[in-house]
Amino acid sequence: MAALPFSDREFKKISDLMYEAVGLSYNDSKKSLIHSRLSSRIQKLGLEGFADYIAILEDESEAVEFQLAVDLLTTNETYFFREPKHYDLLQNELGKLGNRAHISVWSAAASFGDEAFSTAMLMSDMQMMGRIGPDWSILATDISHRALLSAKEAVYPADRLRAVSPERLRRYCLRGEGEAEGQVQLQDKLRARVQFGQLNLCKPFDGLGPFDVIFLRNVLIYFDPPTKTEVVDRVLTALKPGGLFFLGTAEGRVPCNTPISTVIPGAFRKAS
Ligand SMILES: C[S@@+](CC[C@H](N)C(=O)[O-])C[C@H]1O[C@@H](n2cnc3c(N)ncnc32)[C@H](O)[C@@H]1O
Repeated sequence: MAALPFSDREFKKISDLMYEAVGLSYNDSKKSLIHSRLSSRIQKLGLEGFADYIAILEDESEAVEFQLAVDLLTTNETYFFREPKHYDLLQNELGKLGNRAHISVWSAAASFGDEAFSTAMLMSDMQMMGRIGPDWSILATDISHRALLSAKEAVYPADRLRAVSPERLRRYCLRGEGEAEGQVQLQDKLRARVQFGQLNLCKPFDGLGPFDVIFLRNVLIYFDPPTKTEVVDRVLTALKPGGLFFLGTAEGRVPCNTPISTVIPGAFRKAS
């Protein structure tokens, strides 16, 4: 099928819509990415081209299609125990909190839940060893409805759990058989420890936290510099003084107005 024409005006329109609604920021180098990700959707809907699709995105009664476009334009790549040093640090720090009444963790761009469930495995193990008490909770949020639906199912291709130890695989996972060969289902006792919800980091939110630990890893890449700072400061309001804050190590230190200090690459502590 011939490639759909995609003018600079149409590219700008879609970029503006995504920026206003969800803070996604696209410079000119991303034009071909938007083109390739949305073209097949436009063709599947039987539309003439990008102009028709833009009309749908601008129609407020088409919220479902808008969400679908956001899902297509965001990358949900994630896996269990990504950046193992962050989990080593987390284990040490949680050990210091010990039997504190309640420990709360937020995975703020949770994608398919790998980060939240990795944390749940780690905390369940710590609880079993008596290093933390039983009263802990994990909140996992994302803007992508599709990713959240899949996270709640907690079924993963086995490869995504490649960094999970054999003991944890035995303790928390069920291996699929027959048609489900190659897939892993997390056990209910682990799934019950994570609450999922939809949240747009670019809009104000109230009433969350305060958390002892926040993961905000590998999401800031979508935002322009002022939005990055705004999102980091907003998220840090939900972190307790002295709490631990994780970014992706490749993201470096993001400028923010909240005082934080570096613990290890990608891990920061909010000032007490
Ligand atoms: C690459 S994944 C990161 C997953 C996980 N944190 C990790 O590091 O493995 C980025 C996630 O950010 C989400 N995202 C993008 N823009 C967002 C926004 N404005 N608010 C909340 N989540 C957003 C995407 O849907 C995607 O699931």
